[in-house]
Amino acid sequence: MIKKVGILANGGDVSGFNAVIRAIVKTAENHNVECYGIIDGYNGLLKKDFERLSTAADGNAIGILPQGGSIIGSSTNANLFNYKVVNEDGSVEFKDVSDQAIANIKEFGFDCIFTLGGDGTQKSARDFSTKGVNVIGVPKTIDNDVACTEITFGYNTAVSVAMEALDRLHTTGATHHRIMVLEVMGRYAGWIALEAAIAGGADVALIPEIPYDINRVATKIENRRKRGKSFSVVVVAEGATPIGGELTIMNTRDNGAGVDNTKLGGIGEVVAKQLQELTGLEARNTTLGYMQRGGTPTAFDRVLSTKYGTKAMELALEEKFGRLVVIKNGKLDSATLDDVVGNNTKIGAASGNTAESNLRKIEMDDDLIKTARNIGINLGD
Ligand code: F6P
Repeated sequence: MIKKVGILANGGDVSGFNAVIRAIVKTAENHNVECYGIIDGYNGLLKKDFERLSTAADGNAIGILPQGGSIIGSSTNANLFNYKVVNEDGSVEFKDVSDQAIANIKEFGFDCIFTLGGDGTQKSARDFSTKGVNVIGVPKTIDNDVACTEITFGYNTAVSVAMEALDRLHTTGATHHRIMVLEVMGRYAGWIALEAAIAGGADVALIPEIPYDINRVATKIENRRKRGKSFSVVVVAEGATPIGGELTIMNTRDNGAGVDNTKLGGIGEVVAKQLQELTGLEARNTTLGYMQRGGTPTAFDRVLSTKYGTKAMELALEEKFGRLVVIKNGKLDSATLDDVVGNNTKIGAASGNTAESNLRKIEMDDDLIKTARNIGINLGD
């Protein structure tokens, strides 16, 4: 019988974290299960930083459905199996502190830990599960790249924000006869870029799954100009690369193996400059950045997050651990964490889908690719 559960939010924040937390707490309360927030992701497990969550009149889990961020914080770089420790003399060591976290879980009496996060978070969840901890994952990321599920929470909101940006770039681009480039997030997958391009009526979408030829993009823009269209809108995923070229990286962090140390960014500027040179038209880049992660979730994400949260608690009540709640064929389901993380030993291998990572990228026969091509969106090839 489940009596006490902990919820942790880990990785980059998304709109919908709080909606999932609220749904877990509400479902738990209906079954007399006590809920605690584990503060700042896996860090909270190590530091025993737990906070009671409740939807009582004076509780902290009420009124949070529309709130962005996470009321229990999050951490982007905490891998307890290879944890960064800075010693007093400033030297850095990486230690496996997972046993300490497990001792804390036992001492506090958690019957199950819910891990809200992307592939890195779920890999740690799988590793805790292997060591005997009862874990249930919930797939979060704006990137939509978690394996075994058709959609992650936070993704729809990110696409909606990018779409709105494209609508605004259209009017300023048309007024000044410019090429307007929008760089969006998504890591090694092009989901945000491609869906936003379709929703926002862009002319070009450059995605990591299809290395691009900048001359082909320039030709597309030239052809538009010949047809009397003096502006163009180009969406570039942060992980897009030219044919035979490298990723554009803003910086590399030193947080050890098992977390994504590569900070992508800058490709939008590169593409805008090249298109200006090739076409003679003025080009401007906008990097959308963290706008895609902040603020209130869309209706879609509120519903999806609520479905995920309730399903996660149902699995816990059924004592089905070591699983991730997923959407499969449009319906709520679950998959084993082993299937989700595959043989993912290193997160953020620079090229995405390697033998060591299990990210879900866009397949070439995806309806989105066909739809984009049918309406003449240039994919850089
Ligand atoms: O994975 C989510 C995401 O927002 C990516 O789209 C982006 O590349 C990355 O996180 C940014 O990470 P950070 O918060 O560490 O800057």
